[in-house]
Amino acid sequence: MSTFAGRTTAALLRAKPAVFTQQANFSLKSKTSKNIAWVVGSLAVGGGVVTAAALATPVLAGDPILHPAKMHWSHSGWLDTYDHASIRRGYEVYKQVCAACHSMEYMHYRNLVGVIFTEEEAKAEAEEAQVEDGPNDDGDMFLRPGKLSDKFPSPYKNEQLARNANNGALPPDLSLICLARHGGEDYIFSLLTGYSDAPAGVQLMEGQHYNAYFQGGAIGMAQALYNEIIEYSDGTPATQSQLAKDISTFLKWAGERDQDKNKLYGLRGIIVGLIMLSAVLFLNRQAWSTQKTAQLAFRPPVYKKYVKTFRKGHKDYGMK
Ligand code: HEC
Repeated sequence: MSTFAGRTTAALLRAKPAVFTQQANFSLKSKTSKNIAWVVGSLAVGGGVVTAAALATPVLAGDPILHPAKMHWSHSGWLDTYDHASIRRGYEVYKQVCAACHSMEYMHYRNLVGVIFTEEEAKAEAEEAQVEDGPNDDGDMFLRPGKLSDKFPSPYKNEQLARNANNGALPPDLSLICLARHGGEDYIFSLLTGYSDAPAGVQLMEGQHYNAYFQGGAIGMAQALYNEIIEYSDGTPATQSQLAKDISTFLKWAGERDQDKNKLYGLRGIIVGLIMLSAVLFLNRQAWSTQKTAQLAFRPPVYKKYVKTFRKGHKDYGMK
């Protein structure tokens, strides 16, 4: 048995390696050159496509748009949570300013509970709103005080009424606006504070206003925020930028209400994952430790003896 194993090994060591190495070298060379050809080719094609796309996109001097600056928000970082005082002030801004024109149809009064109001406060808040319900036994619709399960009331009954009241422009629903606009809360903040006189040569139609952050510059919404336009219930000075910051935080929260929870669960997942990963690495090392530290060695004298036996064997059978 051992002779047999020795023969095989000796034969392998004697005859095969040279051929094997040559083959390996050969295929390695051809693969490398093929790879280089692929990389150069892909770069050339990719570069061509990008250049063609850049050339095909028109750059129009008459269509300027300012990109909002990237700002650091109290909820921006990986471990940062929402500033709830700011959400609360933002809700006040929405209710007293934006709600005159913008609906928030995915927001219910119950969503405010535990975030900016206690349940009692939220109930009282809902009751201030008059909600259409019905029909009653006479078949008529009627108004009743709102409940926690009600949506925020819409300022307009339908799109036509909304457009009619705003020179044809439709105030979009604000529930998900932060997710729906490039730049998110940075854009909302910049938009609300970015009104200016139209630059020379820009013609505005009736009911339009100039805002460099809005696509095209001419927006159908008049500047909504001014210093002291409302009074905050917590006494914070209501400057224009403060109002804009708070409503942006509120709208961000409205679009991603689970963000705090997601960050917490994500962090927990990473911590548990790291603990499990280190356990797996440890167990893996332990399981393989015997195999990985074992050494296979050929002892020269024995090896020579086997080679001799092998050659002799060949001769015995009339082989070279
Ligand atoms: C007088 C009515 C009115 C008020 C008040 C108002 N808006 Fe608007 N808003 C509009 C109209 C109309 C449009 C659509 C403009 C357009 O498409 O040209 C609009 C558009 C927007 C847009 C979308 C811009 C875009 O990129 O398409 C945002 C965001 C917005 N308003 C936020 C607010 C916020 C926040 C408030 C409160 C601080 C507010 N608006 C108050 C009428 C109003």
